Parts: sequence; C-alpha cells; structure tokens
Amino acid sequence: MIVLKSDREIKIMRESNQIVKEVLNELSLRAEEGITTRELDRLAEEKIRKHGATPAFLGYRGYPFTICASVNEEVVHGFPSKRRLRKGDIISIDVGACYQGYYGDAAVTVPVGEVSELALRLIAVTRESLELAIEKVRVGNRIFDISAVIQDRVESEGFSVVRDFVGHGIGREMHEPPQIPNFRMDEGSVQVKIKPGMVLAIEPMVNAGSCEVDILADGWTAVTRDRSLSAHFEHTVAATADGPMVLSS
Ligand code: MF3
Ligand code: CO
Repeated sequence: MIVLKSDREIKIMRESNQIVKEVLNELSLRAEEGITTRELDRLAEEKIRKHGATPAFLGYRGYPFTICASVNEEVVHGFPSKRRLRKGDIISIDVGACYQGYYGDAAVTVPVGEVSELALRLIAVTRESLELAIEKVRVGNRIFDISAVIQDRVESEGFSVVRDFVGHGIGREMHEPPQIPNFRMDEGSVQVKIKPGMVLAIEPMVNAGSCEVDILADGWTAVTRDRSLSAHFEHTVAATADGPMVLSS
C-alpha cells in the first residue's frame, strides 16, 4: 500500500533530508585525494548523530556501515574501507538518516581532483536525468513518466541504465512502494498515478558501458560487469498539488 504523507509529515521528512543533504555536502568537500572511504563513513555517522538522527543504512538487512561509498566501477552499496581516494577517481556517496521516525535518502557522485572527460560527462548526464525525472513528479503523471525520461536521457548519451536496483517510496520505512525503475516497463509500479503526499526517492544508476552488474563476494558491493565507470544520484521528492518539492536539496 502506498502511504500518502500529510503536510506535517512532509515537514519532518524535509528535516530528515536536510540532515542527509548537509552530510552529503560535507562528504563531497572531503572526498579529496588521500582520504579513506572509512574516514568519510566516520564523519557521516558523527554528523548524523549530532543532529539527533540515526544512520538509516547501518544494520539495514545487515548492512554494516553508515554510508555507501562506491568508487569508479562500483555502482552502489560499496563498503567504506581503508582504500584511499586518488586523483581521477569518481565516488558515489549514498547517505540515509532517520529523524523523528521518518527517513531521508540521497546520493551524489563527485570527482576526486581532475577526472576524465568521460567521467565528467557520465556524472553530468546522470545528474541531468534525475533533474528531468524530478520535473515529472506531478499529480496525474505516472511513475512510468519518471522511468522513461531517465532512460531516454541516459541512452541518448550512449550510456546505460542499471536494471538491478530501483528507486522507491520512502517515509516511516526507508523502502516503501512504489518501486521506481529507471527504465521503461510495461506493467507493475510504473502504472501508479502520482498523487499529492507521495514521497519518492528517485535514484538513477548509470553505467558508461553495459548495464550489467555483478555483486562482489562481500554480498553487497555492486560493480559493472564490464568494469566501466558508474554514477549514481538520488533525491527524496514529495509530490504536492503545486508540483515537485525536493526535500533533500
Ligand atoms: N539509497 C539506497 C537505497 O535506497 C541505499 C540503501 S543501502 C542499504 O536502497 F545498505 F541500506 F541497503
Ligand atoms: Co534510496
């Protein structure tokens, strides 16, 4: 069942997402050559707790960290580690927080120092596909409109959309219906009509090469099968009578 949120609930979700946003902003600045992804994880956990919130991912289905830190060919759910970031890397940072019983969820991909033209274009196209998708969060549209615009933008640039993971409704649970695929589907959640009070976490995952992914032996880290670069952006967005309200920006 899709749970519609009241204005009061959306206000709280805005706060959860503002905490997420602040953490992401800080981590983006700190994602420089030499820092380890574990250090980024530490910073995130401290900051989330300082706001009186709890890390949403930590312990979720056994996930052992506060953030997902996915470098280069890692798509999503990368484990923070002793790996040091190097110039030329790109890192996708995904952060979730629970505040007053409501979840916030957002992600960005940032370059570490100077990166390749390809990497910059991949990041730009993935971000643009999310921006176009947010514009579709309008009453009367369907989830399909979100899925289609993401796929079209990504594929028109010669990149591919990951099929194995999807966006989701969010609220008192981190993952609620409807699922939000980043590609066209004929049936299922894509048929859902957008209503005021729906809160959606939209999260395109885009590969420079083929869309296939593998899961590493840690059981979590998704990597591109062809080891091409991958980018990921996510925003939590409320549908209102007046249009999309991005809670995480
Ligand atoms: N943003 C991701 C999602 O919505 C993060 C989940 S990571 C997990 O699914 F570890 F918590 F699963
Ligand atoms: Co999410």
